[in-house]
Amino acid sequence: MSIQEICRAASNTRLGEGLYQLVLDAPQIAAAAQCGQFVHIACGEGNLLRRPISICEAGEGRLRIVFQVKGSGTEWLADRKEGDTLDVLGPLGHGFDTAALGARPVLIGGGIGVPPMLQAAKCAKAAGAAPRAVLGFRNRGAVILEEDFRAVCETFVTTDDGSYARHGFVTDVLQELVADATGVAACGPKPMLKAIAAIAKQAGLPCQVSMEERMGCGIGACLVCACALKAENGETRYGHVCKDGPVFNAEEVEW
Ligand SMILES: Cc1cc2nc3c(=O)[nH]c(=O)nc-3n(C[C@H](O)[C@H](O)[C@H](O)COP(=O)(O)OP(=O)(O)OC[C@H]3O[C@@H](n4cnc5c(N)ncnc54)[C@H](O)[C@@H]3O)c2cc1C
Ligand code: FES
Repeated sequence: MSIQEICRAASNTRLGEGLYQLVLDAPQIAAAAQCGQFVHIACGEGNLLRRPISICEAGEGRLRIVFQVKGSGTEWLADRKEGDTLDVLGPLGHGFDTAALGARPVLIGGGIGVPPMLQAAKCAKAAGAAPRAVLGFRNRGAVILEEDFRAVCETFVTTDDGSYARHGFVTDVLQELVADATGVAACGPKPMLKAIAAIAKQAGLPCQVSMEERMGCGIGACLVCACALKAENGETRYGHVCKDGPVFNAEEVEW
């Protein structure tokens, strides 16, 4: 069930170039949120459509979201100040099923796909699992949430250009971790998700991926977010990323 809540901004912090962390007082949405779900935020009068942003953390009556400024909606979000109010719809979508990932899941985030994996790591740990996180970024300036992940679980960081931590891709680390992993979950760019899904499949591990599509309504009513999925008879069927996803079993996705 989605809730529309008028939320007060508790803080808005710049994390890096074009990267922000917004904490919202959102007691009703925070109480209902599950890892991998998202909120749909009305971003000012000039933006008719709400903008989908993943829940990075939910608890104690607050929601934490982390976003990158892309266009007018996220620019508006970046300008919010403590005490401003925001119209938020959520929690939306189908999140991660961390129980299905077993006792030793590998949780992977790429770039601005990193934030929802923090709540997934906390969720897996709270259920008694020992997750490991792999976070990939373009370069040093794009690194976010590293300390938050380290406080929860063993964490590996890669940068594409080698300017920080390990030079390479998250898939290099995943190849080394699959031997004793029980499942994989990931959020990030589609080519990264596709490569992760292939490694997990080869290793015989369950794999869940959080997909991104442009959205309209956010609640399954407009078809803007259609994504191609495999039907049981081998043909292609279409699902809604907003309602059936954003998290799908990787085997379901028509890459
Ligand atoms: C389920 C989901 C979770 C997301 N979580 C995050 C997150 O945690 N942090 C973050 O920084 N970004 C996230 N995004 C991407 C974010 O929604 C877009 O960057 C944002 O909508 C861009 O809006 P804009 O007005 O700033 O940019 P513009 O490009 O001006 O947007 C124009 C229109 O395109 C839509 N749009 C543009 N890019 C996207 C996109 N990638 N996905 C969906 N709609 C888009 C906008 O909603 C808007 O209607 C997520 C997207 C989805 C689908
Ligand atoms: S955004 Fe309208 S159906 Fe998904």
